[in-house]
Amino acid sequence: MNSAVMNDQSPDYLPGNVKAWNKRANEYAVYAEEAWASDQPYWGTLEIPENEAGLLPEDMTGLSCIELGCGTAYVSAWMCRRGAKVVAIDPTPNQLATARRLQQEYGIEFVLEEGYAESVPYADGSFDFAISEYGAALWADPYHWIPEAARLLKTGGELVFLTNTPLAVICETEIEAEGPMGPELLRPYFGMHKMNWPDCPGETEFHLTHGDWISLLRVNGFVIERLLELRSPDEAVTGDARSREDWGASWPCEEVWFVRKQQQADVSVAARS
Ligand SMILES: C[S@@+](CC[C@H](N)C(=O)[O-])C[C@H]1O[C@@H](n2cnc3c(N)ncnc32)[C@H](O)[C@@H]1O
Repeated sequence: MNSAVMNDQSPDYLPGNVKAWNKRANEYAVYAEEAWASDQPYWGTLEIPENEAGLLPEDMTGLSCIELGCGTAYVSAWMCRRGAKVVAIDPTPNQLATARRLQQEYGIEFVLEEGYAESVPYADGSFDFAISEYGAALWADPYHWIPEAARLLKTGGELVFLTNTPLAVICETEIEAEGPMGPELLRPYFGMHKMNWPDCPGETEFHLTHGDWISLLRVNGFVIERLLELRSPDEAVTGDARSREDWGASWPCEEVWFVRKQQQADVSVAARS
């Protein structure tokens, strides 16, 4: 039984998302195997190589790291190969089963925890670096997981997360089969937060406008260092199952936030401004 679901305090959307990821885990294992096999990290549906995107610190030797919503945990494996000490957390047992199998196959050891990013069983200031690639960044409520990430990081620690852009969210077709996504604005920008797609019943995604991300990050004591909008290198590379055609070369589908937990004294300044 999933201990995260058993916890009365767990978010109401969690069981639906865990059920969906438990079902999806088998087909996802194929992608996981390719990612674990790669020595070079690559990111998102566009598979942008690390030497272009630069999500990971150059030297991770001895860094204490956490992956929030690790899924099959290939990002954690990449960090371990760079010398990091890693904790990987995810609420979906079948995803963790793939991660454990690949851990054994590759002989890469790190802590794999069943749990969710909104409530992580580690002390304040436990980590130097936190990352989420479409894990917590898409599937957890940012008004819960961002404060939790801030709590878990040491002062000066870095959080990096990759998710869909709000622009893609407002252009995405309502039903995947209705694709491809075009340049039309299909839904409002303002007010986006919790989203349920009609062709994915029971699942809940979370998206924020850029203004709301900035406010939330700053209120939680983060300095925003960089916002990387990923661009498809090739008009023919769609990246996503929702067949984006040339979308990814003309508009950003995916973005990466690089933020750093600042000194306490700076937080009051950020909150005022
Ligand atoms: C697309 S995977 C991303 C993880 C990893 N990059 C990968 O591709 O395997 C999405 C993951 O988010 C996890 N997830 C769902 N709800 C979560 C939550 N509240 N906290 C943390 N992870 C969550 C799911 O279990 C799933 O394994």
